[in-house]
Amino acid sequence: MFLGLDLGTSAIKALLADAHGTIIGSQHAPLPVIRPHAGWSEQDPDDWWQATNNVVLALRDTHPREMAAVQAVGLSGQMHGLVALDADDGVLRPAILWNDMRSALQASRMDTDSPIFRRCAGNAVMPGFTAPKAVWMAEQEPHLFKHIRTILLPKDYLRLRMTGEKISEMSDAAGTLWLDVAARDWSDELLDASGLTRATMPRLVEGSEAGGRLRRTIADAWGMTKQPIVAGGGGDNAAAAIGLGVTKPGDSFLSLGTSGVVFTVTERFTPAPASGVHAFCHAVPDTWHTMGVVLAASDCITWLCEITGLTVDALMEQMRMTELAATDLKFHPYLSGERTPHNDAHARGGFFGLARSHSPGDMARAVLQGVGFGIADAIDVLSDVGAKPARLTATGGGASNPTWLTYIASVTGTPIDVPKDGDYGAACGAARLAMIADGAEITDICHKPDTKFTVEPDAELTEKLNPARDDWQQIYHFLKTQKNRHP
Ligand code: XUL
Repeated sequence: MFLGLDLGTSAIKALLADAHGTIIGSQHAPLPVIRPHAGWSEQDPDDWWQATNNVVLALRDTHPREMAAVQAVGLSGQMHGLVALDADDGVLRPAILWNDMRSALQASRMDTDSPIFRRCAGNAVMPGFTAPKAVWMAEQEPHLFKHIRTILLPKDYLRLRMTGEKISEMSDAAGTLWLDVAARDWSDELLDASGLTRATMPRLVEGSEAGGRLRRTIADAWGMTKQPIVAGGGGDNAAAAIGLGVTKPGDSFLSLGTSGVVFTVTERFTPAPASGVHAFCHAVPDTWHTMGVVLAASDCITWLCEITGLTVDALMEQMRMTELAATDLKFHPYLSGERTPHNDAHARGGFFGLARSHSPGDMARAVLQGVGFGIADAIDVLSDVGAKPARLTATGGGASNPTWLTYIASVTGTPIDVPKDGDYGAACGAARLAMIADGAEITDICHKPDTKFTVEPDAELTEKLNPARDDWQQIYHFLKTQKNRHP
């Protein structure tokens, strides 16, 4: 038996799978996000550990026999979060998360002053990544920064609690901007440019290798007879790719979760920092990937539900009463700034073209189109670096919204495969990495899910959406120019 743990931003999930990859059971628990100031986003690592125990103990209670037989555990998690620990491994401050924008100033200064980040870490310095968060801490909280002895990523903090070991793996480590992504090793130069040294960083393994062993006391509490190994695991996107069988060059997926992600596997490190593309390591050896990230995807729907007081179902019901190709109302999805392609932490969302007659349903349609245009922008820049996905497998909550997928397929000209019902997410990928670390072959484990149906581009819709997308892009550029004139 194998256990996959995925530490998301809004929830943690535990999933139990057998040696054939069949899912035996899963449990999840919500996680609170603390937003002390506009643009800040934090979580208490103790909450993560508490929630981990809750979901694992719930699985132990529902599947005691299977839990007793667990032989390996895999970890996946939200990327980029800064967990700063003191000499006793105590948490110095709440974790600063991937969608926290406080370090925009530090990020843009590091990007300009230290070209090594683009060259060696392969990415423009963005406030979402870990390095500028640490520099923010050095400048704004020097009394805490001077006590830092270790920096961990969120899922690797769980590993520390589970195994007592400080270990990370390549896919998540690449998202710190302290990794020499081509060499798959920490870079002393990159660390030095952030006022840190290698001594602060955990040991590195590949995601599909063993990275620690569960403490005896924890294995006992979790009802496990053996002392399972813990696989390196992966950042949530790399782990989701493993769950979807996206492991070979050219394999791609589209994730419509809180953020929107287009992920393509590459056989080499292919950086394209100028266009806000991420170039990271994959969670299996000798493999890399490129990725475009739209910071708010489903998050825009969640926001609209909060504003209108409607549930997602009620909002979608109202949307179905409006016309599929209604393009007079436009929406910019930059509620949390944007990464790909603009790398603009100060970008903001907006509706353009609102009329007295517009309903929440019209607004919902504009939101789906606007996020779709954002995904299309990300795919365009992946194409510029030769990583245009030929087809995409959809995952995340938005994958169950055919209207949304129709917009994205039509505006990008890319067929989108929707997998048969099942659980192929990051927790499944984490369980698969545990199997591989335990001795299974990647090719035997990482198969693709069967397709339930494919959403093909709709030529008539494409014709209507394209001019609307041109206007939508021009509005962004106009507003950006205005902002530069009157900062
Ligand atoms: C990827 C990213 C997000 C988080 C969300 O670069 O920031 O996808 O990993 O969990």
